[in-house]
Amino acid sequence: MQIVAFANQKGGVGKTSTVVGIAGALDRLGQRVLCVDMDPQADLSIWLGIDIDDGELRTVNDAIFANTPGAAGEAVYKAAWGEQLYCVPSVLDLADRENDGVIAGAFRLSTVLQGLGDRFDVVLIDCPPSVGRLVELALVAATHLVVVTEPAAASLRGVARVLNTMEVVQRHYNHGLQLAGIVINAEKRTSEAALRIREVRDTYADAVWSPVVPSRAVVAAAAGSLAPVSAYGSDGRDVTAVHDAFARKVVDLAVMA
Ligand SMILES: Nc1ncnc2c1ncn2[C@@H]1O[C@H](COP(=O)(O)OP(=O)(O)OP(=O)(O)O)[C@@H](O)[C@H]1O
Ligand SMILES: [Mg+2]
Repeated sequence: MQIVAFANQKGGVGKTSTVVGIAGALDRLGQRVLCVDMDPQADLSIWLGIDIDDGELRTVNDAIFANTPGAAGEAVYKAAWGEQLYCVPSVLDLADRENDGVIAGAFRLSTVLQGLGDRFDVVLIDCPPSVGRLVELALVAATHLVVVTEPAAASLRGVARVLNTMEVVQRHYNHGLQLAGIVINAEKRTSEAALRIREVRDTYADAVWSPVVPSRAVVAAAAGSLAPVSAYGSDGRDVTAVHDAFARKVVDLAVMA
C-alpha cells in the first residue's frame, strides 16, 4: 500500500485541493482510496462531506492518541461522493499533538495505519501548512512525499523547508521515504509565474510533475459546495485532466515499489 503525504510549509498553495483532485481521480480508476486529514483545519474532511461537528465522530486524533496498530481503521468514514473513497477525519484538537513529548511519538501515525493495506490500495495524507510535529508524523508514516507549491517565491521557500524536513525524517525515522514529485498548482499566465516555474524546474529537474495545474475559479467553487471539480463539466475539465495524470503517477509508484 502506497502512503503519499502532500506537504508545503507555506499555507494556501493547494495541498488540500490536490489531495481531493487526485483522490477523486484514483477513485475513478477503481482504486480503494483512504484520505487521512492531518490538518486541524479539517478542510479535507469537510470537502469529502464528513460532518466534523458530530460529537460521536472518531478522528485521526483519537487514533494517534490510542497509538495501537491499525487504530485508524476505527475512524474510517465513507466520503459523501466517489465509489470507494474514504476519510479518516481531523478535528481541531489534533493541533495539541504538535506539542506532545511522547517517547517514540513520531511513529504514532505509522502505527495506527498498520494493516490498512487489506482495505485500501492507496492512502493520501493531507498535511497542515507547517514543518512541525504533525508533518513529521505524516512523513514517518509515508512511503512517498508530494510537495505542492504555487509558482511564487514564498511558496518555493516552503518547498525547500519541506525537503529539508524530509531529509531529517529519512535519516532518523524512515529510510525508505521517497520524493514522488513536486506539483505546481494554480498557475496564472503571468511573467512572474513563468519565472518561478523555470526556477522550480532548474532546481528540482525531473522531480517536478508535468503538467502544471492551471488557476481556475472552479476549484474554490467545488470546495465551497463540497463536490469534486470533475462534477463541473467543461469548467473543470482542464484541472481534472491534470489530476487524472497525477493519479496515474501515484498508481505507478506502486509498480515501481
Ligand atoms: N488550481 C487552482 N486554481 C484556483 N484556485 C485554487 C486552485 N487550487 C487551490 N485553489 C484555491 O486556493 C485556496 C487554497 O487552496 P487549498 O486549501 O487547497 O490550499 P492548502 O495548501 O491546502 O491550504 P492550507 O495551507 O490552508 O491547508 C483555496 O481557496 C482554493 O480554492
Ligand atoms: Mg489544506
